[in-house]
Amino acid sequence: MGKRILLKGAILVDPSQEINDYRDLLIADGKIIDIAPSLEIYEDDVEVIDLEEKVIIPGMVDLHVHLREPGERARETIEDGLTAAIAWGITSVCCMPNTLPAVDNYMMVEYIKGKAHQANLGHLYTVGALTKGRAGQEMTDYASLIDAGAVAFSDDGNYVDNGLLMWNIFKYLVPFRKLVVSHCEDSSLVGKGVAHDGYYASVMGLKEIPRVAETVAVARDTLLAQATGGNLHIAHVSCAGTVEWIRWAKENGIKITAEVTPHHLLLTEECLEGFNTMAKMRPPLRSESDRQALLEGIRTGVIDIIATDHAPHKWEDKDCLFEEAAFGVSSLDYAVSLLLTELVHPGIISLDELVNIYSCKPAALMGLPAGTLCKGAVADIAVLDLHAVDTIDSNKFYSRGRNTPFDGRHIKGKPVMTFVEGELKMKDGKVFK
Ligand code: DOR
Ligand code: ZN
Repeated sequence: MGKRILLKGAILVDPSQEINDYRDLLIADGKIIDIAPSLEIYEDDVEVIDLEEKVIIPGMVDLHVHLREPGERARETIEDGLTAAIAWGITSVCCMPNTLPAVDNYMMVEYIKGKAHQANLGHLYTVGALTKGRAGQEMTDYASLIDAGAVAFSDDGNYVDNGLLMWNIFKYLVPFRKLVVSHCEDSSLVGKGVAHDGYYASVMGLKEIPRVAETVAVARDTLLAQATGGNLHIAHVSCAGTVEWIRWAKENGIKITAEVTPHHLLLTEECLEGFNTMAKMRPPLRSESDRQALLEGIRTGVIDIIATDHAPHKWEDKDCLFEEAAFGVSSLDYAVSLLLTELVHPGIISLDELVNIYSCKPAALMGLPAGTLCKGAVADIAVLDLHAVDTIDSNKFYSRGRNTPFDGRHIKGKPVMTFVEGELKMKDGKVFK
């Protein structure tokens, strides 16, 4: 047995075991080997870490990030994206295939795995492209992508407009038991739209993306999943109507899950004021009533998980005309702190619920060995200081993407240590590679 680590004196919040109480954790060989209200071990090879007044949670699991490699290293690299994740308590991420070229074959998955291995930080899983080149015309070779390690399939960034193709994709993937992650925006209804079709788009003269661009797409995929028995996961839900559709689908036994981003949970179209390109993303920020419906969606479990849709961009791609700016928010930095500050501290959801929807459930959904700190589990751990305060400063981001609408916000609560497979990878903001 290698060196053992004893985490002492913290409160463990782990919904997978229904624990919210004092627990000491003993770690060896990358795993949790003991867990008890109090562990006393006086042996030379045990490093004791005193975590009084801290909270231990299973590391967060983010199923939707864009790490831009290969092809767009100026926006992000796998190493920098994983550094941001580790710095902010996120120990597993799934990266989307809209890179250049797209992740649509075995070698591409191998390439990403190699980069993640080199980075030696958190766990990186790959979502393979649903269609070749993400062009929406032809299926990729799912068996070979799965062989290489793909955990799910998506053309994220694009909707697969061809209904017949999508029908075949759902049917084909059923025996593989892999999720089809759908970016639900009907392209003809989005058109050249750049913002929600509400008050702000109309006074600012911006082309609109109506809610129905999303709901129509969700409706089709939901019905296709019902007809084929396919496993549908709806990416980044933005409006109340979608929440209603998902509720209906779940009540009718359709195999459907859904995610929401921190920005859709915390912001509205108001952020567009002053042609703020940082608030431009797809789907767009919508109205306060939509935001309330999304919050209700996570409280009731209609929306299963939180995922950031971390979408880093170059500064010049945001520092330009609104119409020309890139879509997306760089989100891995500070996501956990924002959720603690805006949802947990005001009592909108409990810390247990946050850990459940941003760690336990995402891991279970994707079948990843994470999201739990039960005996025998992989020791992927975030240690939180719920009282630490800070101000968001995009200049201090670990990600290459500094594009955030949250700059200057005050936060309360942050990860102060992150362990991956029992190894300390971050302490007080310093990341160890
Ligand atoms: O805002 C977005 N940015 N939405 C997406 O679906 C894709 C993403 C990106 O890749 O930049
Ligand atoms: Zn995305």
